[in-house]
Amino acid sequence: MAALTICSAAAGKAQAVRSSAQKPKAVAALPRLATAVGAAAVLLTSTPAFAGDLTLGQQVFDNNCAACHMGGQNSVQPEKTLQKAALEQYLEGGFSVASIITQVENGKGAMPAWSGRLDSDEIESVAEYVFKQAEGNLW
Ligand code: HEC
Repeated sequence: MAALTICSAAAGKAQAVRSSAQKPKAVAALPRLATAVGAAAVLLTSTPAFAGDLTLGQQVFDNNCAACHMGGQNSVQPEKTLQKAALEQYLEGGFSVASIITQVENGKGAMPAWSGRLDSDEIESVAEYVFKQAEGNLW
């Protein structure tokens, strides 16, 4: 019974993924289900959802940025926090992921440049993370 429930849940998931990929062929037999789920997994992992990865972004932030920006603050220049209002006021280019990427890559004033120390994936991810934290008022 439990196994049956898990199987039918998996079938529903596989079908949902299949139909969103516009392959409406029904999953009929159980042996074929395993293949379908496998294919769905490949489909999901091979799709680039968005450039930044928030989990990676948080890791990069904790390891590299929190020294000066603990909790979204700024221990060097207190008014230049990572809050949305401060970013809108001080960040060159305004409040956007692209502007944060530019500042992280090049640095500014007492903030060091990170290009060469972080790869582009890490920079995009940390910028996405900072943006989401500020946008949602999550600091
Ligand atoms: C050595 C301390 C230090 C570290 C480490 C640091 N920053 Fe900064 N950060 C600053 C300072 C100082 C400023 C203000 C720069 C200025 O405008 O003169 C700043 C500004 C910013 C701003 C713009 C904030 C505003 O209100 O203008 C962003 C975004 C930012 N930092 C992101 C990051 C990220 C992401 C990291 C990690 C990759 C990082 N910083 C690491 C010191 C640091």
